[in-house]
Amino acid sequence: MIPNRAKVAVLISGRGSNMAALLYAAKAENCPFEIILVASNNPEAPGLTLAEAEGIATFAHPHKGMNRAEHDQIMHDAIKLAGAEYIALAGYMRILSDDFVNRWQDHMLNIHPSLLPKYKGLDTYQRALDAGDSHAGCSVHLVTATLDDGPILGQTKVAVQSDDTADILADRVLIAEHQLYPATLAKYVTRKADPDWILDQLRTRVLALEETHERESFGTPGWRVGSEKSAKYFAYFSYRHLGDTGTSVFVKTSGLDEQAALLDADPGLYFAPKFYGKSGWIAIRMDTGRTDWDHISDWLRKSWRMVAPKRLTKMMDIAEEF
Ligand code: GAR
Repeated sequence: MIPNRAKVAVLISGRGSNMAALLYAAKAENCPFEIILVASNNPEAPGLTLAEAEGIATFAHPHKGMNRAEHDQIMHDAIKLAGAEYIALAGYMRILSDDFVNRWQDHMLNIHPSLLPKYKGLDTYQRALDAGDSHAGCSVHLVTATLDDGPILGQTKVAVQSDDTADILADRVLIAEHQLYPATLAKYVTRKADPDWILDQLRTRVLALEETHERESFGTPGWRVGSEKSAKYFAYFSYRHLGDTGTSVFVKTSGLDEQAALLDADPGLYFAPKFYGKSGWIAIRMDTGRTDWDHISDWLRKSWRMVAPKRLTKMMDIAEEF
């Protein structure tokens, strides 16, 4: 089993077949998440019985006679108490308060039986049939305050067949849902170790520095400061680049003394890159799952400053004197 698997609470209102798909996916050796709670607003939800039979903690609290905020608070407390880091909505047929959504921002996913942004809400299959769509499908998205909205993390298209009814189509879309949800959730909870995600984060921070641009160097993205003609490199992204392991960023130090001091101070974070290390560059690991992005930004600025033209650093020097 993978250590430190992401702890997920699944919220259901009924059948719970998507919950079951997540639960059985989590039994695989290499699954990066575990289901630690199945919670419902409906104590009669059949999915609860299945979760119990599988030895998963369950929680149910009916919403009748309560206002939305009160009920959401009860659910939130139970989910927190269970130690969940993520919520997977799986047929949870309750609109959530903005407050609840904000508390779980970027940590709550939902599955919806349409190719969003098409057919938010109910009756998605019939609407796809009525529109004569060639494909229906399902989407997994992050939950934001607007219903069935929020960034789409994954979609599966399902071909519509000529004799489809809404029920027949729903059955086929459901098969696709059961494949899509576990795969998308697994990818999402491990995103911080995903080189593409890390590169995106890094790129945003590098390009926020003045007069910088990206140029590939020996097959990896590098960033330069200054005019196109005289610009100098101050950072490189490395994913197993030129013989190095893992995902890291290379930045400039003042020289081999500073490099040695860093390696000595924190060998878990820094290493000397094979190719660039000889000229005093240092690699900072970004795949530990504990990346301090402010620290990375500080390094980028320091490295930028080392090679940026005087006309750019002059203003900064003056500002920093005060
Ligand atoms: C699923 O088809 C899911 O996509 C849908 O409810 C069904 C729940 O089935 N969700 C929505 O419509 C959310 N807007 P399940 O309980 O068997 O997982």
